[in-house]
Amino acid sequence: METIKIHDLTFQPFISEEELSHIVKTLAFQVSHGLDEGEIPLFIGILNGSFLFASDFIREFKGECEVSFVKLHSYQGTKSTEVVNELIGINEDLTGRTVVILEDIIDTGNTLHKIYDVFRDKQVKELKIATLFFKPSVYRKELPIDYIGKSIEDKFIVGYGLDYNGLGRNLPSVYQLTTEQ
Ligand code: IMP
Ligand code: MG
Repeated sequence: METIKIHDLTFQPFISEEELSHIVKTLAFQVSHGLDEGEIPLFIGILNGSFLFASDFIREFKGECEVSFVKLHSYQGTKSTEVVNELIGINEDLTGRTVVILEDIIDTGNTLHKIYDVFRDKQVKELKIATLFFKPSVYRKELPIDYIGKSIEDKFIVGYGLDYNGLGRNLPSVYQLTTEQ
C-alpha cells in the first residue's frame, strides 16, 4: 500500500477518487430531492476545507442554485474549549431562503455550533446541513445534521480539501493517519 508523508506524519490511502465521486453524487441527489418544488437553494460552503467538496457538489446538483462561502477558523486555545472565529461572513440577504451548508467534516461539532449561531438571526426559511464526513464517536452536540456523506472512525484524515497543518488539501483522494508513526 502506497503511504505518503506530510510534515512528520505518515498517511495511508483511505477513500479513493471513485468512492468520493459516488458519495458526492449521492449527497447532491439526496439534497435535491429534499427541496420543495421550485425552491432555489443557496449553497454555502465552509472555507477552507470544503472548497473541493463544494465545487464537485454544485456541479452534480441539477437545477438552479446560488453559491456562496463563509470562512470559519477553529483553533485550540490554552483551555480545552474550542474557539471558532468567523473570518469571512455572509453578505447575502437570507430572508426566506433555503440555505444548505456544505461542510467537509463534522468532528466535535464546535464548527457546526458556530454555523447555527451565525445563521440563527438571518430569518432563513430552512437551514440544512450537508457534510461529506462525520466522526460520530467524537460528536458532542445535539444539533441536527441533515445529510452525511460517510461516517468514519476517529482518525485524522487529509486530502480532497482537508489539510494537516496547511498541506494535503490538493490530494485528489483521502488519506488516513497510520497508527504506527
Ligand atoms: P469540529 O471539531 O467539528 O469543529 O471540526 C472542526 C474542523 O476541523 C473541521 O471543519 C475540519 O476543517 C477540521 N477537521 C476535523 N477533523 C479533521 C480531520 O480528520 N482532518 C482534517 N481536518 C479535520
Ligand atoms: Mg472545515
